[in-house]
Amino acid sequence: MSLTGLFLCSFLIVHMSGNLALLKSDGGQAFNEYAKFMTTFPPIKVMSYFTYALILLHIVQGLAIWLKNKSARPVKYAARSKGKNGSWASRNMAILGIVILFFLILHLKSFWFEMKFGSIPYVDYGGGKIKNLYEIVVTAFKQPWYVGIYLIALLAIALHLIHGFQSAFQSLGVNHSKYTPIIKILGYIFAIGVPLGFAIQPLYVLLFL
Ligand code: HEM
Repeated sequence: MSLTGLFLCSFLIVHMSGNLALLKSDGGQAFNEYAKFMTTFPPIKVMSYFTYALILLHIVQGLAIWLKNKSARPVKYAARSKGKNGSWASRNMAILGIVILFFLILHLKSFWFEMKFGSIPYVDYGGGKIKNLYEIVVTAFKQPWYVGIYLIALLAIALHLIHGFQSAFQSLGVNHSKYTPIIKILGYIFAIGVPLGFAIQPLYVLLFL
């Protein structure tokens, strides 16, 4: 679970950084060219299939751990003392995971499915016709309720990552008086920075386009 989680973390960094092309005031050219590259360049396509497989594997691993923990402690703790039983996020990783899963289904239906199977309009910037995914994304992010769902999901992602990032290193046996505090700080920067980078995108479209 640590390895699939850490791979998905690297996916999030690439996905968030690439999507920042949305913020360019060029009528969507940079974003559409990036989307075309990501969906047609063969090595990236292979990585995409690998990503889908690891998302599914991560879900199955999470469910297995959740069921195991549940059967190990069928009766809930009578009382929770702060700090002793772990943080709220660490105790609710499965619930956070389910929120993220619902978000992912909505997200993939809105953009990924449209890009692959929908009838997206085409645009030509001088180098031939390409799909205008930018138009689809901007139309979606102009709806406040849709952006609201994204912000709630990104909060769940931040909480999931705050615990998940450092827990992954711990599970891999990285427990060192010198490195563990550094991993903790990096974990916080990652878990807050990446969702913030994602959140800027729908908010920018909603408020400034
Ligand atoms: C909030 C800003 C986000 C934007 C603007 C965005 C945009 C997009 C777009 C346009 C696609 C379709 C592109 C394609 O077909 O390759 C896509 C695919 C995808 N998105 Fe996002 N996304 C955002 C956040 C997220 C988050 C937070 C996650 C994960 C928790 C995520 C996971 C995915 C996955 C797994 C795919 C499929 C990738 C692939 O086919 O390789 N996205 N996203």
